[in-house]
Amino acid sequence: MKTLILVGYGKMAKALAEGLKDKYRILVCGRDCAKIQNFCDTLNLTPLYLKDSTLEITDREVLLCVKPYALDSFVFKGRAKCVYSILNAVSVEQLKGAVNAEFYIRAMPNVCASIKQSITSLCGDAQYKKEAFDIFNAIGKSIWLEEKHFSLATALGGCAPAFLALVAESLIDSGVTYGLSREDSTQIVQTLFSGFSSLLEQTHPVLLKENVMSPGGSTAQGVATLEKHALKSAFLEAILASKNFA
Ligand SMILES: NC(=O)c1ccc[n+]([C@@H]2O[C@H](COP(=O)([O-])OP(=O)(O)OC[C@H]3O[C@@H](n4cnc5c(N)ncnc54)[C@H](OP(=O)(O)O)[C@@H]3O)[C@@H](O)[C@H]2O)c1
Repeated sequence: MKTLILVGYGKMAKALAEGLKDKYRILVCGRDCAKIQNFCDTLNLTPLYLKDSTLEITDREVLLCVKPYALDSFVFKGRAKCVYSILNAVSVEQLKGAVNAEFYIRAMPNVCASIKQSITSLCGDAQYKKEAFDIFNAIGKSIWLEEKHFSLATALGGCAPAFLALVAESLIDSGVTYGLSREDSTQIVQTLFSGFSSLLEQTHPVLLKENVMSPGGSTAQGVATLEKHALKSAFLEAILASKNFA
């Protein structure tokens, strides 16, 4: 069984550890011994306590799951086999400056990792592509990209769940505004989203729209109203704004 050193014990570390613990021997480290112990007890993993924040990484595979600014909190001693990082907006070049390793993989999972349905973007050394897919497919699906597309993929996969949450909230509030109980409105929208996501797996969105948009009908009136408020343009600008910040 391959060993993986997990640095961090937060939400993403938990999602990854849950998906990987049957396939890898996972050693967990971080800055707080009590939190490491608690995390390991909950998930039945092995703690790795650091002395003076120093982590010996020679020939190891290391999975960085701490906050981006926390990288400096650790002293990485030796040369790792591979460093995998999920740190937002930390490039492969920056990783090279912080940790010595033979191979580097950068990954960007999203909030759906907690239910093993993340879409995770990957880039870095192609020699370690297969190992990277093995790790990140444990929390959903993964795609391999050029690093120059990473900020865009972060906006689309990482930020857009918040945009969709806004859409869901707006629909629920609209139902309530025009007379439905919040409970009924919420149930309709929740089921709408889960049914829609299954349909989207097999059908292009344009066809989905056309299927419910009969000539002169009520859906067409609603779509025309959304077009009047430039919904598509709002999304284009939102993705660009998020991309420029990622
Ligand atoms: N959440 C997401 O949807 C998401 C998506 C993609 C990528 N990411 C990336 O995943 C990483 C972890 O995010 P998360 O959501 O799992 O966050 P989280 O639950 O808040 O966990 C943060 C982790 O970072 C550690 N940490 C924070 N400050 C530290 C410091 N100064 N020194 C050492 N360790 C420190 C925390 O340890 P302590 O408890 O001891 O502070 C904890 O282990 C981040 O880099 C984030 O950019 C998150």
